[in-house]
Amino acid sequence: MTKSILVINGPNLNLLGTREPDIYGAETLADIKDRMTEKAASLDLEVDFRQSNIEGEIVGWIQDARGRHDAIVINAGALTHTSVAIMDALLAVGIPTVEVHLSNIFKREEFRHHSYISSVAVGMITGFGSAGYLMAVDAVKNIVK
Ligand code: DQA
Repeated sequence: MTKSILVINGPNLNLLGTREPDIYGAETLADIKDRMTEKAASLDLEVDFRQSNIEGEIVGWIQDARGRHDAIVINAGALTHTSVAIMDALLAVGIPTVEVHLSNIFKREEFRHHSYISSVAVGMITGFGSAGYLMAVDAVKNIVK
C-alpha cells in the first residue's frame, strides 16, 4: 500500500522565492511541493504538503496525523528553535519524523543552533536548499519500507 508523508512547513516559508533568496533560494514553496510530490510518487509515496504561520495549527496537524500518515517531514522555520509544543506533539504521536532546513542552521546565528525537533526526529537534513526536501523523501522511503 502507498505510504503517506505529512510535510509541514512553518512560519514565513510561504514567502519563499522572495524571502532572503541569498539564504533560502529563489524557488517558491509551490515549486518545492511539486518537485517533492513528483519524487515521492516515483517511490510510491504520497505527500500531503502544508504550511502554517500558526504554532497551534501545526500542533493540531501533528495530533491528527496518527493513523493517517506514516511519516512526517517538518521544516518548522523559527519554531524549530522555540517550540516545546511541537516537540511534545511529535513525541505524543510517535510518527517517524525527518527534520529539514533549507539553510545550514549550524553555520548561522547561535540561536539557530538548537532545535527542539532534533531531539525527537530520526535525523536532520540541513543546508542543501530545496534539495533537502527531496533527500527527505529518500530518507522516509528508507524508514517506512
Ligand atoms: C529555516 C531555518 C530557521 O532558523 C529559520 O527561522 C527559518 C527557515 C530553514 O529552512 O533554513 O524560517 O528553518
